[in-house]
Amino acid sequence: MVQRIRKAVLPVAGLGTRFLPATKAMPKEMLTVVDRPLIQYAVEECLQAGIDEFVFVSGRNKGALEDHFDHAYELEMTLQQRKKAPELKQTQAATIKPGNAIFTRQQKPLGLGHAVWCARHWIGREPFAVLLPDELTLDTPSCIGQLAAAHDKTGGSVVAVMDVPRKQTKSYGIAAVKDEKDGLAEITGMVEKPKPEDAPSTLALIGRYVLLPEVFDHLDQHETGAGGEIQLTDAMAKMIGNEPFHAMRYTGRRYDCGSRLGFLEANVAISLDREDTKAESRALIERLMKG
Ligand code: UTP
Repeated sequence: MVQRIRKAVLPVAGLGTRFLPATKAMPKEMLTVVDRPLIQYAVEECLQAGIDEFVFVSGRNKGALEDHFDHAYELEMTLQQRKKAPELKQTQAATIKPGNAIFTRQQKPLGLGHAVWCARHWIGREPFAVLLPDELTLDTPSCIGQLAAAHDKTGGSVVAVMDVPRKQTKSYGIAAVKDEKDGLAEITGMVEKPKPEDAPSTLALIGRYVLLPEVFDHLDQHETGAGGEIQLTDAMAKMIGNEPFHAMRYTGRRYDCGSRLGFLEANVAISLDREDTKAESRALIERLMKG
């Protein structure tokens, strides 16, 4: 029987160099899109999919992430006394069930593969989800929920992919696929950050994965790859042919919030979309465009 996905790994130990100096003392994952930090979008995406156990792999200066999901007793009391019911509700929504989150440290940012490997004892031998919180995805059902459903069907690993312009392949893990049917295709190869001329396709991995625990056996080798980092893509590539491994073409919205422009796009797009902010945002943007 296929095992349901219960646990998610959230790697949040990167240095966030593209956002310096903002990320000097604050984690990139606490950057705010409209009024919620990136990490909260990722956690909510999991909760929507029924995944409610979390392993955060963090590093130095990441304490704010842990506090964000804690019960904020004094703040909540003050909001209650001031009769700020909507604000209180928003604050209370940003919590995780007691005992359902573990924070472990990567200690050295040796790469995404190493960060995921740091979660191995907390995951054990069951399939699990990985979400990169600097990639924001919005869809119903959520992207990770769609991957979990695909895993239910295939019993194997599944990663979300999207087409990118060929000149951008050097920023992503790229998958080669065959036999695509209803948005699901068998993966035949995977390579991290290939040059456009070497890329086997333009299908980029967008930071959403459901993986079988066998990936830890490969990560145990600590092999370095592109950029001298221990790459998750390299470990996943070794699983191809041994277990079912599929790419799911994701068609929902996705914002690369690890880049400044993608982050800006997410803020504008989501504020134009949300009922409570859309009218004012539209008026503001129109005013700014007039110059
Ligand atoms: P990025 O490639 O975006 O790296 O990592 P980064 O350090 O966060 O940001 P830049 O490129 O310097 O601006 C993708 C994801 O992998 C995590 C990051 O936290 C992010 O969620 N990561 C990366 C780790 O947890 N550990 C690592 O060693 C590397």
